[in-house]
Amino acid sequence: MKKNTKPKLISIWNPKGGQGKSMLAINLAAASVEMGLKPLVICQDQQGTSINYYKNGNLNFEVLATLPKEQPDADIIIFDHQASDWEVPQTKLLLMPLKPARDQYATYIDAKKRAEAKSKEIITIVTDGQMHRQSEKTTTQHLKGQGAHVIPSSGVFSRAAEEYRSIFDPSLNKAYKIGERRKEINKILGAILLNAGEKTDKKKRKLKNAA
Ligand SMILES: Nc1ncnc2c1ncn2[C@@H]1O[C@H](COP(=O)(O)OP(=O)(O)O)[C@@H](O)[C@H]1O
Ligand SMILES: [Mg+2]
Repeated sequence: MKKNTKPKLISIWNPKGGQGKSMLAINLAAASVEMGLKPLVICQDQQGTSINYYKNGNLNFEVLATLPKEQPDADIIIFDHQASDWEVPQTKLLLMPLKPARDQYATYIDAKKRAEAKSKEIITIVTDGQMHRQSEKTTTQHLKGQGAHVIPSSGVFSRAAEEYRSIFDPSLNKAYKIGERRKEINKILGAILLNAGEKTDKKKRKLKNAA
């Protein structure tokens, strides 16, 4: 039966490849299932990373290549964007993952400016930071200070990816620090459901004017 309430829409966007977009799409959807919600992932990547997960049969939710015309029966729809896609997504809420290495940071900054110009709500996720590198550590701390979430570099993500599983898959229950990684993903899902993006300058002004 079709639901009356509108699904929550979220785009995972960063024009640079390899930043953790598909990793987050798959794991946030899996976290939604744990929470009793019905997610749908739309894989907008020609290479079909999240579709490949689905084809391998280990997911307990659906991944489609395009959004169905009729409103899908889902509580949350997650758009997994492809690399080199510079067009700011349509959804109000954007999740922007980045790896904090210097050459990758610049793309995030450029893309974020574009998103801010369109008054998007932005949730930033620093993924896979190499904390023994001073520049990555500094960038991570800086973004954290602005409200970014952090998912440390962890072998559990490559292990899960190799088997096309989410990190919530019971077969990974005994993986190193799995509880912490799941908690981080759950926290990001919580922020999405609450629309708790960063305060953009525009929003700050609004709040100030209202005070
Ligand atoms: N926190 C992390 N720790 C370790 N590896 C990570 C982490 N986040 C992402 N990765 C790995 O980085 C690679 C690129 O991630 P992916 O989600 O495919 O990026 P994108 O979709 O942005 O191109 C994948 O192999 C993924 O497992
Ligand atoms: Mg991807």
